[in-house]
Amino acid sequence: MAQKIKVKKKLEDLRSQRWYGPNTMRGVSARARSRQMGFGPDDINNKPRIGIINTWSDMNTCHSHFKDRAEEIKRGVYQAGGFPIELPAMSLGEILVKPSTMLYRNFLAMEAEELIRCHPIDGVVLMGGCDKTTPALLMAALSMNIPAIYMPAGPMLRGFYAGETLGSGTDVLRYWADRRAGLIDDEKMENVVGGMSRSAGTCMVMGTAATMMALSEALGMTLPGASSIPAVDTAHALMASACGRRIVDMVWEDLKPRDIMTEAAFDNATAVDMAMGGSTNAMIHLIAIAGRAGIKLDLERFDKISQKTPVLANIKPSGEFLMEDFYYAGGIRGLMNQMKDHLDLRQINVTGGTLGESIKDQPVYLDDVIKSLDDPLYHQGGTAILRGNLAPDGCVIKQTAADPKFHQHVGKAIVFKDYTDLNLRIDDPDLEVDENSVLVLQNAGPIGAPGMPEWGMLPIPKKLLEKGVRDMVRISDCRMSGTAYGTCVLHVAPEAAVGGPLGLVKDGDEIEIDIQGRKIHLDVSEEELAKRKAAWSPPVYPATRGYTALYAKHVTQANEGADFDFLHAGDETPEPLIF
Ligand code: FES
Repeated sequence: MAQKIKVKKKLEDLRSQRWYGPNTMRGVSARARSRQMGFGPDDINNKPRIGIINTWSDMNTCHSHFKDRAEEIKRGVYQAGGFPIELPAMSLGEILVKPSTMLYRNFLAMEAEELIRCHPIDGVVLMGGCDKTTPALLMAALSMNIPAIYMPAGPMLRGFYAGETLGSGTDVLRYWADRRAGLIDDEKMENVVGGMSRSAGTCMVMGTAATMMALSEALGMTLPGASSIPAVDTAHALMASACGRRIVDMVWEDLKPRDIMTEAAFDNATAVDMAMGGSTNAMIHLIAIAGRAGIKLDLERFDKISQKTPVLANIKPSGEFLMEDFYYAGGIRGLMNQMKDHLDLRQINVTGGTLGESIKDQPVYLDDVIKSLDDPLYHQGGTAILRGNLAPDGCVIKQTAADPKFHQHVGKAIVFKDYTDLNLRIDDPDLEVDENSVLVLQNAGPIGAPGMPEWGMLPIPKKLLEKGVRDMVRISDCRMSGTAYGTCVLHVAPEAAVGGPLGLVKDGDEIEIDIQGRKIHLDVSEEELAKRKAAWSPPVYPATRGYTALYAKHVTQANEGADFDFLHAGDETPEPLIF
């Protein structure tokens, strides 16, 4: 059973004292160099040193408030008697990093781990929010396992256009489909885009950012209620300085990520993911985060929790509202209190208290935004795991974002051998496709793309858009933005580029999906598949040097979290030698 940890550390126990404390040439030198920066002994000696890992940059559109927030965190650290040290890290802005931020999630995770490891810090505030930043920072926190608190960026304000509320990603995709169908012109499209992003903060639908920020809270790594606060609300600035105050206490209490992110905490996070109708990306990230603590999660565990957890958050793309509404409705604490029977309330969080204490009596103010267990949005969780000869190691689908008429479907495959092929041919008037076809994208997985980009919401062919078709069955080994929607089967494992059956599919093959039956089946005989496999050869990998080459050598498949095999071990990172 989880217990509160209130062990007091002494000054001489602090990690930073190994750098600054000893009366050796190195210790003297470290102290002298603090003066070089304008800090005297009274400023920093005898205080916990708190790292603030800041994923701000001009290229991360969602973290544009992080310069202010870093100062607010510092204020809190000073107030509590600590000394703050800001450490910039790769910012991973989802929109501008190509080919995919997923290629660099492990890069940021390694960078953050090494930033913590090599510097004289006793605790760390992790500033993230835009999609991959959250999992990367939590992965690093578990590997290093020194006191850590996560400060979520928070969602941006609602979008508006011509009296209509707009959700980032989700409504751009919807309007873009109308644009391709010739239903709206460039001017209207530009006006939609102009009303979409009204403030600092992450995408404000239940995309990957909102999902992972909420799950970080369900895991226990944020202050209670922190993950739902809109980025530009004054409560957000107050939360940032509270993070600064709290991390200093956590250092003295020696409260560490592995005390908080337990196996049961991951089950809590999975249940919350399902109740939120969270992004399909959450599964890959949760598996990768847990792996850093040696906790093995598999897809069946997600599916079991999904089957018994109803969706309560009525947020786009599965529902109607946006994250700002979710905050006014009671936020994540309201949702977790509503579903408390599905959670292990004994798990502790960064407060040192339990989850049960943090959500106790939190009301829901708007019951059309956060539904009740008696009147859920959907009776099962948002994500389903499918298996079959096309995906022996599993694949996922966001069933709540799929047209119910495709929940059970048989159709003939139209195969695109890679993303370039898809873009060249999808709008070809001669493409033999109809609304019952199954669009298949190969070689878009962790190694195939590389980096498993969010290409999984394959575009509907233009000639079908013009007929009013807005959903089709699509299958790939890549991911889909949490803001996206449609009947998109994702994360097919093993991926095509390593010889998975997805790479053997040919035009005209019949494919069956059955969400209720958790099945995906390629109707081709084993003999024929063996023949195709014998004739198969892997695609040429686009890098022979640098990080991208390292990535291909070590990345694992989607069902294993797509972490690097050499980081997924579960051991804590050793401390550096200091002489
Ligand atoms: Fe940053 Fe969506 S682009 S959260």
